[in-house]
Amino acid sequence: MKPIKGFSKLNKEEKIDFLVNHVFKGDKNAKKTLLSFWHNNPDSQKIFDEFSENTLSNYYFPYGIVPNVHLNGKIYCVPMVIEESSVVAAAAKASNFWLKRGGFHAEVQGTTKVGQVHMIWPGNPEDLQKLFNDKKVELLNQMVAPLTVNMEKRGGGLTNIELRDKTDLEPGYYQIWCEFETCDAMGANFINTVLEAIGHSFKEMVRKAFNGPDSDLQIVMAILSNFTPNCRVKAWVECPIEDLNDPAHGMGPQEFAEKFARAVRIAKIDISRATTHNKGIYNGIDAVILATGNDFRAIEACGHTYASRHGRYQGLTDCFIENGMFRFELDIPMSLGTVGGLTTLHPLAKLALDMLGRPSARELMMIVATTGLAQNFAALRSLTTSGIQRGHMKMHLMNILNQFSATEEERIKAKAYFEKDMISFQSVRDYLTQLRDVQ
Ligand code: MEV
Repeated sequence: MKPIKGFSKLNKEEKIDFLVNHVFKGDKNAKKTLLSFWHNNPDSQKIFDEFSENTLSNYYFPYGIVPNVHLNGKIYCVPMVIEESSVVAAAAKASNFWLKRGGFHAEVQGTTKVGQVHMIWPGNPEDLQKLFNDKKVELLNQMVAPLTVNMEKRGGGLTNIELRDKTDLEPGYYQIWCEFETCDAMGANFINTVLEAIGHSFKEMVRKAFNGPDSDLQIVMAILSNFTPNCRVKAWVECPIEDLNDPAHGMGPQEFAEKFARAVRIAKIDISRATTHNKGIYNGIDAVILATGNDFRAIEACGHTYASRHGRYQGLTDCFIENGMFRFELDIPMSLGTVGGLTTLHPLAKLALDMLGRPSARELMMIVATTGLAQNFAALRSLTTSGIQRGHMKMHLMNILNQFSATEEERIKAKAYFEKDMISFQSVRDYLTQLRDVQ
């Protein structure tokens, strides 16, 4: 296929036709599939089209809920968007387990967002520091204030600005380090606008203050940092050890607590396990982040960096067994918003936030962290007792049956049959073959 020029200028149907003709060799089924996922209301479809570029259709994911999430004394129905069959069921199981044991607790540890202007300057570091100190008030009053006035009315704004000398790491490298409070907004556009204005103004100040090569400060880039270790939330569950008793564990509560705590410790000392452990946490977190129209890539990137803060990648949860009490907690950075962006534009994200009672960003941080904790609790509980496959494959049964185009009658029979039998792709295929041979 030859490269195409001006693809983005084509209208949607022309784009689809291009794809059908050049990639699918004229096979109209591809077009049929794409059109079948268009929204039947053109106005709604237009909203989805405009979220992105070169849009051809919509990609559906299941939108489910976890009821009975008891957090800080309040019961939530938590929306989750995820394709992995066992995730919602696991979160629901963990929520029900803790519903009878005091529920989940959570607390916001901080809401500071960060941005950096990265710069190169050839002169003497003390001279740049002096200029920055002398001009800081002017920079704030003349350049930053007009941009932050609305955010300040809501209680936010630029909360700290400093020049950082990084010349020991890269010749001539400095940063203007900025901290922000963005209230209920994730704040990316606000932060980036302020940073670019600061960068341009400081460059101009340097041009006027110095002569020769020192008058040229290069702005390498101005951008928020997705690493927000001080925009963080802690979620936890706790109960007397004997309250962990559950016949499904197949062991006493003390043994369960110790085995569970050991599994958490293994994720602290082994990076292979830590990665899977944290993946499970993000199964829950990403699903709520997606449902509420937030940026799951930013939240994941930050969490994985945070998981490496002690110099080695580690599990994000901790478990304590002390004085007859069991405590399991998740301490995690979480920069998100409940206003702006997709949160109001995407009808289902809007509905998700309505479902949660229109939470503030702080409240949503706690809800999301709780879902991550619930997910990790459910995974470790299964892993340290029955093993993960029983529950996982039970949920996956429907996907396997769909792959074999099972009829409704076959699905009912297979569900009943696999109540007792071990589920695998092979065993489901064999069962269906046998069932179909008999008929
Ligand atoms: C599967 O998506 C997630 C788990 O592997 C997480 C874990 O092992 O802790 C079950």
